[in-house]
Amino acid sequence: MRFAYASRTGNVKSIIDRLGIDAIDVSLSNGIDEDFILFTYTDGYGNVPYEVEDFLDTSSKHLKGVIVSGNKNYTDTYCMAGDVISKQYNVPVLYKVEDAGSDEDIAAIAKIINS
Ligand SMILES: Cc1cc2nc3c(=O)[nH]c(=O)nc-3n(C[C@H](O)[C@H](O)[C@H](O)COP(=O)(O)O)c2cc1C
Repeated sequence: MRFAYASRTGNVKSIIDRLGIDAIDVSLSNGIDEDFILFTYTDGYGNVPYEVEDFLDTSSKHLKGVIVSGNKNYTDTYCMAGDVISKQYNVPVLYKVEDAGSDEDIAAIAKIINS
């Protein structure tokens, strides 16, 4: 399984680094032709980040699931980018994490992606 991520202010990148996995930065990639799990943040009131939309335009057929970061101050749209992607591409939201997540979050995500 491969991994791809989008991070604007560093939280998702921190998750990737603490997991110790190799992951493609979607904003630097033209696409991927192997199965992958996407890590993304949630943008402007529940939106999927533009760079993620572009990446999925070319690579969604290999998408297996999404791990999404958000912030609970956005009560109505918490981690909604993951829900939007899940519906649009019929893949599961594997985990919702607030900002860069706690050590417990990282352990839970590690378990999910290794299973
Ligand atoms: C302009 C802006 C809009 C955001 N909108 C949402 C939102 O609608 N829902 C949510 O759960 N988080 C929202 N967030 C929070 C980010 O998704 C969250 O902090 C995430 O961890 C950022 O990841 P990054 O540091 O890797 O870019 C927003 C953040 C910003 C700056």
